[in-house]
Amino acid sequence: MNIYQTLVETVIISNKNHLIRYSDSLKLIGIGRSAFVFRIKASNLAIKIFFPAYKDLAKEEVEVYRALRGIPYFPTVHDSGSNYIVMDYIEGDTIFDCVTQGTTITPEQLKEVDYALSLAADQKLNPSDIHLRNIIITPKGRIMLIDVARFRQEKNCMQWRHLKTAYHHIYKKRFFPKKIPAIVLNIIAFIYKKRLLPFYRSNRKSYSS
Ligand SMILES: Nc1ncnc2c1ncn2[C@@H]1O[C@H](COP(=O)(O)OP(=O)(O)OP(=O)(O)O)[C@@H](O)[C@H]1O
Ligand SMILES: [Mg+2]
Repeated sequence: MNIYQTLVETVIISNKNHLIRYSDSLKLIGIGRSAFVFRIKASNLAIKIFFPAYKDLAKEEVEVYRALRGIPYFPTVHDSGSNYIVMDYIEGDTIFDCVTQGTTITPEQLKEVDYALSLAADQKLNPSDIHLRNIIITPKGRIMLIDVARFRQEKNCMQWRHLKTAYHHIYKKRFFPKKIPAIVLNIIAFIYKKRLLPFYRSNRKSYSS
């Protein structure tokens, strides 16, 4: 068993996806819909450990990262197992965190995301599930993308296009506040999903969740 597997074994997740305990060598840095993400203390590595019901996503995400290897906007994978991925730890804040802290998002950063996504598309991938928590702004103001498990899905995901529209038509306006509480962002995300869900159903070809 390698060192990463040993660390993964310390992470106990309940059937209801509650985190019961984990090693002192790990620091919890993120919780998604399918995984807990830890930084391995005193290293520049992160471990994404999938909830038991989502563990098959580990293999899928590793394969996508393999296709993205060498593109500097994505973390490099260093090890993986049936339910985990070890990758570069990316220092910075997600766009979600930036907006809640009042850190302004610039049009150049959006363009950089577009460029990163175009490089992924060049690898015959279909970038999907691009939302505020899957884009990290580094301390130097550059962007990095994470969470690529859905990049091989066939249906078109409109989320990033909608986010850009909201950025240009609402966020960029002078009167619009640049600091928004997390609860407000979460409510907006909830309404977005709910309002569009019936629309997704009737437009399966062009929309995805
Ligand atoms: N390599 C990394 N470096 C730093 N932070 C990370 C890294 N990977 C993930 N995170 C943090 O952990 C959070 C959850 O990770 P991730 O998005 O991969 O999980 P997920 O369950 O696939 O998410 P989703 O709910 O979007 O499907 C991210 O929003 C981010 O804050
Ligand atoms: Mg995510």
